[in-house]
Amino acid sequence: MQNNMSLYKKIATQAALKSGICIKKSLGKIKKISYKGRINLVTDVDKKAEGIIIKKILSAFPDHSILSEEIGSKKGTSDCKWIIDPLDGTTNFARSFPFFCVSIALEKKGKVILGVIYDPLRDELFFAEEKKGAYLNKKRISVSKTKKLSKAFLATGFAYGIKEAKDNNIRNFKNFLMRSLAIRRAGSAALDFCYVACGRFDGFWEVGLHPWDCAAGTLIIKEAGGAVTKFDGSDYSHYNEYVLASNGLIHKQMVRVLTLKK
Ligand code: IPD
Ligand code: CA
Ligand code: CA
Repeated sequence: MQNNMSLYKKIATQAALKSGICIKKSLGKIKKISYKGRINLVTDVDKKAEGIIIKKILSAFPDHSILSEEIGSKKGTSDCKWIIDPLDGTTNFARSFPFFCVSIALEKKGKVILGVIYDPLRDELFFAEEKKGAYLNKKRISVSKTKKLSKAFLATGFAYGIKEAKDNNIRNFKNFLMRSLAIRRAGSAALDFCYVACGRFDGFWEVGLHPWDCAAGTLIIKEAGGAVTKFDGSDYSHYNEYVLASNGLIHKQMVRVLTLKK
């Protein structure tokens, strides 16, 4: 298993770096933008980056399964599944707003065992392996020590289906705005998770995320000593739509706000 893990780590890191470099080179040079929904963009670069990652992974592990945002599922025969967001923060990327990344996770028997998130503009590579800690460019990272919600620097996001959604997250946003230090909506959930993991943010919550937004980031937070649950504090899986992630110390205070009736 350990030898396998080093190979998984090597391939995942190489795939994240290679696709990240392609994304960085393509900034401001997008050839094609189309809409997957009313406000949900996809560019030729999302697809090119995805191609690079999948080619790298399947050349090394041809029997592994893939779940990737743009191509969907590709079933293999092994119990390993790679969960990929080739470009998290597409709207930012399309407008040259410098906050986007590549996110790659490896799930084995339903559990995420490895996660890599790469921010190509800042050359920041976040990495975690189950029970081995979380790292930023090979330096161990840990969550913040903020104890009070009133001093907490938070992040959130809003799903593309906001107009149609029953729960559009606006009430939570208002409630946290009134009780925290500040909130950012920077537009890349995967990077938001990493920023909680390294202590830049104290907490993050969002409604309507997909496994490719969360699989790598939630492992990185847990390995950095943080907590990840559903809004009511119960057990979370990266297939859940509701995610609350924090430094652990303000977790209960965040649960209280997310379970307010109004
Ligand atoms: C989106 C970003 C955004 C979040 C959305 C995601 P995409 O991913 O992570 O921050 O608010 O819910 O869908 O489409 O840029 O890969
Ligand atoms: Ca995403
Ligand atoms: Ca994406």
